[in-house]
Parts: sequence; structure tokens; C-alpha cells
Amino acid sequence: MNPRKILVTAALPYANGPIHLGHLVEYIQTDIWARFQRLRGHEVLFVCADDTHGTAIMLRAQKEGRSEEEVIAESSEAHQRDFAGFGVSFDNYGSTHSEENRKLCGEIWQTIRDAGLVKSKEIEQLFDAEKGTFLADRFVTGTCPKCGKTDQAGDNCECGHTYAPVELIDPISALSGTKPEVRNANHLFIELEQLREFLTDWTQNGDSLQPEVANYIKGQFLGDDLRDWDISRPAQYFGFEIPDSPGDYWYVWFDAPIGYMASTQQWCEKNGQKLDDWWKNPDCEVHHFIGKDIIYFHTLFWPGMLKTAGYNLPTKVRIHGFLTVDGEKMSKRKGTFVKAETYLKHLDPAALRYFYASKLGPRLDDIDLNLEEFQAKVDTDLVNKVVNLASRCAKFLKPTGLSAQWPDDGGLFKQAADSADEIAQAYEDCDYNKAMRLILAAADRANPFIENAAPWVLKKEEDKAQELQDVCTVAINLFRQLAIFLAPVLPDLAEKTGELLGDPITSWDQAQTPLLGTPINKFKHMMKRIDPKDIAKMTEETKADQDAEASAGAMSELAAKYNDSPQHLIDKPLTEECTFDDFIKVDLRVARVLQASHVEGADKLLQLTLGLGGDEQRNVFAGIKSAYDPADLEGRLVVMVANLKPRKMRFGMSEGMVCAAGGPEATEIYLLDPDNGAQPGQRVT
Ligand code: MSP
Ligand code: ZN
Repeated sequence: MNPRKILVTAALPYANGPIHLGHLVEYIQTDIWARFQRLRGHEVLFVCADDTHGTAIMLRAQKEGRSEEEVIAESSEAHQRDFAGFGVSFDNYGSTHSEENRKLCGEIWQTIRDAGLVKSKEIEQLFDAEKGTFLADRFVTGTCPKCGKTDQAGDNCECGHTYAPVELIDPISALSGTKPEVRNANHLFIELEQLREFLTDWTQNGDSLQPEVANYIKGQFLGDDLRDWDISRPAQYFGFEIPDSPGDYWYVWFDAPIGYMASTQQWCEKNGQKLDDWWKNPDCEVHHFIGKDIIYFHTLFWPGMLKTAGYNLPTKVRIHGFLTVDGEKMSKRKGTFVKAETYLKHLDPAALRYFYASKLGPRLDDIDLNLEEFQAKVDTDLVNKVVNLASRCAKFLKPTGLSAQWPDDGGLFKQAADSADEIAQAYEDCDYNKAMRLILAAADRANPFIENAAPWVLKKEEDKAQELQDVCTVAINLFRQLAIFLAPVLPDLAEKTGELLGDPITSWDQAQTPLLGTPINKFKHMMKRIDPKDIAKMTEETKADQDAEASAGAMSELAAKYNDSPQHLIDKPLTEECTFDDFIKVDLRVARVLQASHVEGADKLLQLTLGLGGDEQRNVFAGIKSAYDPADLEGRLVVMVANLKPRKMRFGMSEGMVCAAGGPEATEIYLLDPDNGAQPGQRVT
């Protein structure tokens, strides 16, 4: 097989927001494909970048009182951290706000000018005088010019009528709440219609696009004249100024896809290669992975630009559907708008990589993340069926290593080896769901073999040493085949398997030949079952996050009055629900501090003698020294846990706990204060 030269891209995420589980459908999908191609021995360059330009970033920078550069630097760091956390193996991660990109934009622009595709038109647009910017459709609301309904979007009304924002009655700027003015401005347009013949051929060639996408484009766009593409924005705009049209900036969607090339260029500079070897080379394939919301840009504008400028056309644009959670759009309120960062705090990235792989097909269907299914799938498939093969058998091979001869395995190894081509084809076609099914089928054949052979029984019988070694040799090699097939999805598992066997997994073809006669290392933990509590924590934190965000913007009227910070709930999310019976087991009582003193040698503790009425007393060590002076405590009432099992501490027995609220700082300790008529011994419920 001749090695292919393959450039792979994933869409450039907006610098404007954090990476979430929806984005990750794409970045994981693309990473699996890139890793698969590398494993097959092809030359792969996988590039991405942050998409930094446009109004949204500009407004955010204004609001936060810092420069756009500062905002995008922070985003870039966060995005790269998240991607690394999920094992996304970009060869280069750039930014559309780079000199490489500015230069390429200029060059490509010139070719488009030279081809006579650019024209200038005056258009009317709404202008927010207070913010000093023209308003994109989504930043305007107003009254529908047709039916008179108020509070409608900038370009369409609930009644179904569509219009230009300038036609709205009583328009309001979403940026400042003021009434925008109508201003005339010159915009530059690319006449796409001139490229009709090329675009028809390219989109309908049967090879570059999935069939449903080709049909959609044919039905949606090619039936009519292709609309001129409004490519410039007047100042104020955060982007690149157009060299031959001062005061105008390229619209973000012009420079964004060129960012794919700019990122390649950066990589080339670092690695002594030439951009043209990737982008002007008929022997180089270019594969773009994108979501279904940005089809138009990648299948009409982008190929049009590339064609005009004389660069490689995309070999394939591979388009995926959207993520839903429990069958619905991701929602902050429901805690399903989960950020990559939040997921990583609580769960194993390999679990999500596998789950997405098991769901992704070659088509544009949305994929659903049902959290129960997620847990069940990872536990059953990966832990029970795959990792278990190794964890049950590796230890028996520690003393002997693998058998020198391949034992009789009833044909299992060969059967799995023979399925390698079909699995590879499924990866190539982005039919990961099929690939996972084929791999799991091999695992389903391997497991009964081990169960029947029962190495744990053989181990106990003295004369079965050879049989034990043979059975485990088969098991470990069947496991290794699975780890090789799964390596694009689970790179960590592949790495650990390589370590276990002292033979790194670097090539797809390793699945064809068993390892024999080599020693084996100590088995180290590979993957664990998902604890549903961790899923709950992730959801809770997402909800709390959302509350924090809401409060930073417009807090609900009720809460706004008090302006209480949501931070405490974010730092310490609520714990799992408890029942009344759980709660009532804890006997909270009002108690009086009869005596309080410092404890020699303890920097946090005070010793308290608490009275519950009459002669009933408790000796308690409480970690409140940083906030309270013993002298101020004597005589006051506190709430205590009175039935806590006594605990021996370094300084003596502690016979209960005192209830206090606490923040992150050592001095933030607040005793509950029942001094309102309550009496010692009374129960708190
Ligand atoms: N900046 C543009 C892309 C420019 S490419 C030259 C953009 N950015 S994005 O951050 O909104 O999205 C990045 C990618 O993630 C897109 O391909 C988009 O389709 C994908 N997804 C964003 N949300 C998604 C889901 N909820 N589900 C699946 N994919 C999603 O678009
Ligand atoms: Zn209307």
C-alpha cells in the first residue's frame, strides 16, 4: 500500500466561548480519523485554529474592558487545554488572527479581484450610534412590518415573514437598547453566480460530499441564481482591513477557512516544509470535518475561493450531525450544556471518545448522549468485555511470559485478524459505529473462550502450568488485537497495552501477528467503571455554572435584590439527595458552650465543653480557632451534632461536632447562632 499524504482539518471553534460536549463530537470524530490514518502508515497533518474575528469578540472585549487580543489569547489557551484533555492530537493549533493568515487572505483576495468576481454595492444597514457599529441581523429586534407583532428577530417574524432589518418598525439594538439609525454603506460582494458551472460540477461529482448534502445544495441553492456574497464589513469591526479598500474589513467567514491554510503554513515553518506541498499538490488529499450548520460556507464559498486562487479543492467535506442530550438540544438550565472542562473534572475522556465512536455513522443524523446509556455502554463494552480480558489473565503470565508457540485457539485470532480490513474500511468511511460493532463482536468471541478455559482454575492445578500459559497467551493476544483496532479511539488504552507487553502499538498491521515468547510487565489499571455519582456531579456543576452566568448577566428579580454570589455552590455543588429518614438520623441539638480553650500544639482546634441541659455534657474539638476567640464563646449557644460516634483525635476524644458555615478562606467560619430563645437540649429539625 502506498502511503497517502493527507491533510485533515476540524472546523475552527469560535474564540468567543468555551469548548463543550457538542463541539467534541466533531473534534473527537476528526481525531479518530487522523489517528486511524497515522496508524495505517499514511502521512497525516491535522490542523486547527481558533476563529477569532467578528462582532461578537469585539463586543465582549468592550464589555470586559480589555483588548480583543487579550480575550483571544485566553480562549486559545483554554481551548488547547480542553482539546489536549480529550487527547485531540492536532499537529498545529493556530489562530485566524495571525500574520500568516493576513498574508494568505491578501493573496487569495487578489486572485479573486483579478478574476473579476468582486463588485461594490451600496446597502442600507442599521447602525448603533452609541456603540459605534453596524448591526448584524441577530443584534436587532423590532416590530414585524407585515403583521405588527412586537419583539421580533432582525430577519424574520413568528408569522413566517422574512425581511431585512431596515424594514423593521421601531427597531431596537440588542447591544445598547437604543434605536439604531439607517445608514448607507458600501459593501464588497463576491459574485458567486460566475462560478456556477464549477460549483455545480464540484458539489455534484458524487465523491466530495455525502449524497444527502449534494442533494440539499442542489435543491436549496443551485435552482436559482447564486446570491452575491457580502464579503466586507465597515469599521468598527475586529478583523483584517482589506488592503485595497481602506476602512473595510473582511467578513469573518472570508478569513476563517483561510485559517486552515495559515495553520498549515505555521506548521510548515516549524518543520521545514512548504505550504504548496500540501495545498497545491495533486497528490495531497484534503479532508474537512464540519457540522451541518456550516455546510454553505464549506461547500460553496470555500471551494469557490480555492478554485479561483488555484489551490487544492477539498477531497471530501465530511459533515456530521448535532449532539442532543437525552433527546433534547443541549440546555444550560437542565445541566446538559456541559463544558469540556467540567466533564474532565469528573469523568474519563476515553469514555466519551468511545461513546461518540459507537454513535457516529457516515451520515448527518444527530447523535444523542443519554447519560444512562453512556454509563452502561462504557461499563459493558470497555470494562467488562475488553479490559477484563487483560486484567483476568495478565497476572498469570507474569512468571513465565507468553508461550513460544501459538496454541490452539479454535481459530479466534485469525478470525479477528481477517476482520481488520472491514474494520479499517468502516473507519475510513467514518462509519465508526460499524467499526465498534465489529470490534466488539471479536471481544464477544474472545470472552467465552477464557470463561471455558478458566485460567483461574488451571492456576490451582499443579500439572496445568503449560495449559495455563497457553490459554493466557491466547487471551492476551486477542486483547491486544482489540487494543490495536481501538487505538484510534482509545489511544491511552493502546499505550498501556504496549507498556504491558513491552511492544508499543504503532501500526494497524500489528493485529495480524501474535506476540510470542516475550515477557510481560505488571498489569496496571486500564479503565474503570463509571460511577453515576460522577455523572451527577458533572450535571450539578453545569447547572451551578449556568446560575453563575445568569447572575452575572440578569439575575432573577427576586434574587437580584440580595445579589448573593453563586460561587459557593459552584465550588461545592450540592451533594446527592437524601431522604427524611437519612436526615433524621443526625441528631442536631442546641448546646451551650460551658467552657472554651486553646489546645496546645493544635493550630486549628479549640476545645469546647458543650452543655445539653442539666449535667449532660460533650467534649468537642472544633476547627474554629482561626475565626473565634475562646473568651467570646463561653456562654453562647451553638448547634451541634449530638449523636456523632465519638472519635479519638490526637488531643483526646471528640464527642460531637459543632455546626458552622464555611468558605474557602480559613477565617471564613460562621457558627450557627440559635440564640433566639432556643434552649440547650432542644432538637433542631
Ligand atoms: N467558527 C466557525 C467555524 C469556522 S471553520 C472555518 C464555527 N465555530 S463553532 O465553534 O460554532 O463550531 C465549531 C464546530 O463545532 C462546527 O463544525 C460546529 O458544527 C460544531 N458544533 C458546535 N456545536 C455542536 C453540537 N452541539 N453538536 C455537534 N457539533 C457542534 O462554526
Ligand atoms: Zn409578522
